[in-house]
Parts: sequence; C-alpha cells; structure tokens
Amino acid sequence: MDIKLQNVREEDAEFLYRFMNDKDILDALDEIPTQFSDWVDAISAWNCDPDEEDYIIFDENTPIGWLGINGLLSEDKVACIKMIGLFPQYQNKGIGTYALKQTLEMLRSRGFTAAALYTNQSNRRAQSCYMKCGFKITEKFAGKMANGNPAERYKMELVF
Ligand SMILES: CC(C)(COP(=O)(O)OP(=O)(O)OC[C@H]1O[C@@H](n2cnc3c(N)ncnc32)[C@H](O)[C@@H]1OP(=O)(O)O)[C@@H](O)C(=O)NCCC(=O)NCCS
Repeated sequence: MDIKLQNVREEDAEFLYRFMNDKDILDALDEIPTQFSDWVDAISAWNCDPDEEDYIIFDENTPIGWLGINGLLSEDKVACIKMIGLFPQYQNKGIGTYALKQTLEMLRSRGFTAAALYTNQSNRRAQSCYMKCGFKITEKFAGKMANGNPAERYKMELVF
C-alpha cells in the first residue's frame, strides 16, 4: 500500500458523493444520504474557507477516504479533526492511524498547540485509532446526530 493525502479538488466531488452514500459509512457516521451537487458545493465552500482544509486519502491512485480539519484560524491554535473515514475494505489495516499521524505532525509543524475531535462512544475502532495517535478522552456528553439518532459522545484531545 502507498497511502497519500491530497488536497481535495473539484473533481473529487464524485468520490465524496459515492463515499458519503456508502451504507457502512452512513451508519458509522449517523449521516443522511446526500446529492452529488451537495459535494460540488461543499468543495467550493471549503476551498474558499481559510479555517478548513480537506484531504482525500489515496492508496496509490485510488481514492479510499476523506480527512477534514478545521479550527485553523482559532486564536488558541487548537485544530479540530472534523472528519476521518475510509471505505470499509480499507479499515482496520492501520491506514487511519497513519493518515491521522501524518496530519497531526503537519499541524504541529505549523504551530498548532493541540488537536481535538468528537466521536461516538460506541465507535470503539475509531477510539482505538485516536488513542494510538495520542488522543485522550476529555469530555463525555449526549448529542444528536445528523440522522436524528441520539448518541453518547466523547470529546478527545491531544496536546502537542
Ligand atoms: C475510524 C477509522 C478512520 C479508523 O481507521 P482504521 O484504519 O480503520 O484504524 P486502524 O486500523 O489504524 O486502527 C484501528 C484499531 O482499532 C482496533 N479495533 C477494531 N475494532 C475494534 C473494536 N470493536 N473495539 C476496539 N478496538 C477495535 C483495531 O484492532 C486497531 O488497533 P490495532 O492496530 O492496535 O490492532 C476507520 O475505521 C473508519 O473509516 N471507520 C468508519 C468511519 C468512522 O467511524 N469514522 C470516525 C468517525 S468519529
């Protein structure tokens, strides 16, 4: 495997549309189905938002996932991992940990002091990945997800 992160481009709308309508991904994220045009619009919005950066995760030339960060303009220099996901056949092979570690190193080298993220308490695989990257649980709270499901959530943080 040859894993690389590449800044999202207009032509990645088709991949994000496919990825974010995959049943396993919708279930894992408690998200709702979306249209192709939603991703065209999202990419244009991200690309003119200096607070946010989005990357497509590739295995060689095959797009396999999405990693998004925001909080890049935050005064306290705490970045937020807003999204990380891989197609099911690429999960549980260390790729999420690798991609996240690369991103955290990039953030650290750009002067960020910490990173934060949110996850469902039931998502044990995601937590295991985040803990391997050094994140610790700092808050527990009850939330409501995009699909209306209630969820017990964790905030996790890593101080560089
Ligand atoms: C979350 C995600 C990005 C993690 O990436 P990944 O490449 O699958 O994770 P890794 O393989 O690096 O690490 C997963 C770890 O979880 C462990 N794990 C898997 N299932 C587990 C479970 N049910 N309970 C506890 N640990 C589990 C694995 O053993 C592995 O640890 P190890 O390497 O020490 O054996 C990926 O699984 C994914 O895309 N999931 C669907 C979308 C999602 O849930 N995104 C996160 C939303 S907050």
